[in-house]
Amino acid sequence: MRHLIDFGDVTREEWDALYAQAQSIMDRPEDYLDACRGKVCASLFYEPSTRTNFSFQTAMLRLGGTVFGFDNPMNSSTAKGENLKDTIKMVSAYADVIVMRTPWEGAAKAASLYAHVPVINAGDGGHMHPTQTMTDLTTMQRLRGGVDGLTIGICGDLKNGRTVHSLIKAMAKFQGVRLYLISPRELALPEYMRAFLRQHRIPHLDVTGLEAVIPQLDVLYMTRIQRERFEDPAAYERCKGIYILTRHKLERAKPELLVMHPLPRVDEIHVDVDDDPRAVYFQQARYGMFARMALLSDLANQPRQETVEPVEIGAGPVCHNPACITQREGYLPPLTKVNGGRLCCAFCDKELS
Ligand code: CP
Repeated sequence: MRHLIDFGDVTREEWDALYAQAQSIMDRPEDYLDACRGKVCASLFYEPSTRTNFSFQTAMLRLGGTVFGFDNPMNSSTAKGENLKDTIKMVSAYADVIVMRTPWEGAAKAASLYAHVPVINAGDGGHMHPTQTMTDLTTMQRLRGGVDGLTIGICGDLKNGRTVHSLIKAMAKFQGVRLYLISPRELALPEYMRAFLRQHRIPHLDVTGLEAVIPQLDVLYMTRIQRERFEDPAAYERCKGIYILTRHKLERAKPELLVMHPLPRVDEIHVDVDDDPRAVYFQQARYGMFARMALLSDLANQPRQETVEPVEIGAGPVCHNPACITQREGYLPPLTKVNGGRLCCAFCDKELS
């Protein structure tokens, strides 16, 4: 693995190796104090973050490496109009690995075309968040011994939730997983993810009510309604507060249920759930640091590529997704891929018309 852009690109063998490394780091952190000694991580956060930014920074520091970067692009030459390609070419001249979060779908893939060092997608708009998926899988495997055979309810904003899309990509690597997709119709899973579910024959059921399915679940994965992704504020007002998990609602749940959440939460898990032993979301966030240590100990130590393949601008179908990085960075080549038999943009996965 050279870059981590989309969890769908990670093989089961690669994930098993990363998880084994994360377990080893959790169990014997003293063995990894120098795993990234002398290595430098660039941390480019074009969007707010608490967990992903700080867990990557602490992961690198705990491995003996160092970190530089920004959490506000207006403090970089982006504010003067520098494009992403030039920023990435510069940063990859200084760093051994790049961690980046942006509001633009496909931006990490775009960066990977120009970087001399590995690029890690720390969240690209409402598209993907593969290191959150590493966090989620680590939690399930550490606390339940595996993912195979689990019945998982994913609740909330399935349309805009990048953690949801990445988690579903991961489910194709396990056996016997069943999904309940719990959302209002307005926030249902997008078509490119539905095509993925069909292509990989992952059993799933769409439901709008949370309480009726709680007793079936081994994992309940709650998510926030993603206010920042709504074009229409009135639509957010209609959807906010639609699901609120309370201690009372958990009375009919299995005793071994895992209540997970990528965080931050707004109101979708009442604070009275926090002390329930089934609530593991804060533990989950800590596992994320160890999972990211495993990833950095691999990618930050990869050899630098002094030359990268030239990227032809070329001509081809134009992506019309307004959130796609190709809308912002006009020099990007019109790369395509096939998802579920449909021709899609290779940056944001949306179908090309
Ligand atoms: N889970 C997650 O991505 O949290 P942050 O936005 O705080 O990084």
